[in-house]
Amino acid sequence: MTKTLEELRSRRWFAAGDMRAFAHRQRIQQMGLRRQDVLDRPIVAIVNTWSDLSPCHAHLRERAESVKRGVLIAGGMPFELPAMSLGEVMVKPTTMLYRNFLAMEVEELLRSLPIDGVVLLAGCDKTTPGTVMGAISAGLPTIFCSAGPMLNDRYLQHGEPARTVGAGTHTRMFWDEYQAGRVAEDEWVGLEAKMTRSPGTCNTMGTASTMTAIVEALGLALPGSTAIPAMDSAHARMAADCGERIVRMIWDDLTPARILTRGSFLNAAAVQMAMGGSTNAAVHLIAMARRAGVALALDDLDAVGACVPVLANLFPSGDRLMEDFHYAGGLPALLNRIRDHLSLDELTVTGRTLRENITGRESLDDEVIRPLDRPISTSGALAVLKGNLAPDGAVMKVSAASPRFLRHRGRALVFDSPAEMNTCCADPELDCDEDTILVLRNAGPVGAPGMPEWGGLPIPKTLLARGVRDMVRISDARMSGTHYGSCILHVSPESAVGGPLALVRTGDEIALDVDARTLELLVDDAELARRRAAWQAPARRHLRGYTRLYVDHVTQANDGCDFDFLQGTEPTPEPPIF
Ligand code: FES
Repeated sequence: MTKTLEELRSRRWFAAGDMRAFAHRQRIQQMGLRRQDVLDRPIVAIVNTWSDLSPCHAHLRERAESVKRGVLIAGGMPFELPAMSLGEVMVKPTTMLYRNFLAMEVEELLRSLPIDGVVLLAGCDKTTPGTVMGAISAGLPTIFCSAGPMLNDRYLQHGEPARTVGAGTHTRMFWDEYQAGRVAEDEWVGLEAKMTRSPGTCNTMGTASTMTAIVEALGLALPGSTAIPAMDSAHARMAADCGERIVRMIWDDLTPARILTRGSFLNAAAVQMAMGGSTNAAVHLIAMARRAGVALALDDLDAVGACVPVLANLFPSGDRLMEDFHYAGGLPALLNRIRDHLSLDELTVTGRTLRENITGRESLDDEVIRPLDRPISTSGALAVLKGNLAPDGAVMKVSAASPRFLRHRGRALVFDSPAEMNTCCADPELDCDEDTILVLRNAGPVGAPGMPEWGGLPIPKTLLARGVRDMVRISDARMSGTHYGSCILHVSPESAVGGPLALVRTGDEIALDVDARTLELLVDDAELARRRAAWQAPARRHLRGYTRLYVDHVTQANDGCDFDFLQGTEPTPEPPIF
């Protein structure tokens, strides 16, 4: 399949003989470009999520120049388009609120401008699904250029041997130690300069690395590209490769619709499990799949999780970081190791199949990419639990949970807001023990709104002082992929829309059984019916602007939290050129 120059989409803007096309060419020349620069070449958008307040993307302006070099070498014409910056830690209340905003922006940027193909520069958590969802809906040839992980860091504590420390995971560990009085004030201040050593995405197996690996497994990124450290010279070369490759993809009309299938999404789910990936991927995978017209559901992810072991030895499930993973062979080596679980004939951005991309790519370090007979965890990263407390499902990162809590029964301690939770958990007299189940509600897509990462509820201070470091925690929120613990997340439907989580009271018994995939509130049906009859939906506080649009149209976590009017593949007409 080869396009001709006349068939390029950008020709609609530039090639006609009318006054509009004259104006388009005129404005191009206003920028010092020549008319043939846009008439004789495919036009490539470089969608860049760089900003001064997106630390993980601090290098992406330079990388855009590398992409441009590749585009020009291949005979294309690059234009850089800034898109919404979603620096994960900076944006409040949560970047998840704006993932769909970014997706809409990318889709409309690509549709409204004279673009033939796109390179997506992203990587920090929601920027990956956000840009990819938009590009899927726009339907133009697309290649994903990952920001790459930050460099490893080392930390020397109390004269102990230096140890590897990574973003997110160790922040939480040190915080717990600080709360328990085992890290001194000056040491805590000094730790601010540790764990985030360079530009690049979190170097643990958090949401960023999970999502970029998933996009590579989907076939939308060059093989091995997503684990290259952000500050490695190979990263700039990879960016140039993306620029060169997208031009060929435009001529070949290699669109996401030709790459994304149910098979490629199940491959991506297998990678999430084998990487010990973030629970957030459950939401984003479903959202991306439904943009592509693939009916992926939580049960599909659970089925994959039940048979694909965790092989990547990465925090928080293991004890290494993404830089180590890259040196060990990166994703192609991991994919080759789990090839029996994959659909290998799926097409990728290389124009070749997944099978062709990974053949011969072996692990160079079996401590980092474990062999099948020595996994980090025999079952995958994720289990989906259902029951009267979560009729539409909830997720749990089994590989980062304490084995003793995989089958558990305990009394609920319920919080209606994070403020209440934080106040109670700081109370040294709080009535609880390590078997207590902490419950947070009103933290879902509509209730918060935006489903923040509040699901790693803090261990009460009184228990930290007694040495407790894990408890069962249940919420309709999400949890950072860098965190760990026995947390049950994404309870659907959420409490704010009347899900059963709204009916739980402090002192109720809750039972979970990961092997049986159950999550039950042990309160009889008659009592639950009484509570439901008395329940009132929380007042909506967001009555205007984007947040109003969000709460009116966001779907539940088990449906991907996309907007109801953006799911599916219904084509949007090309804009008229008048
Ligand atoms: Fe950007 Fe973690 S904060 S990837």
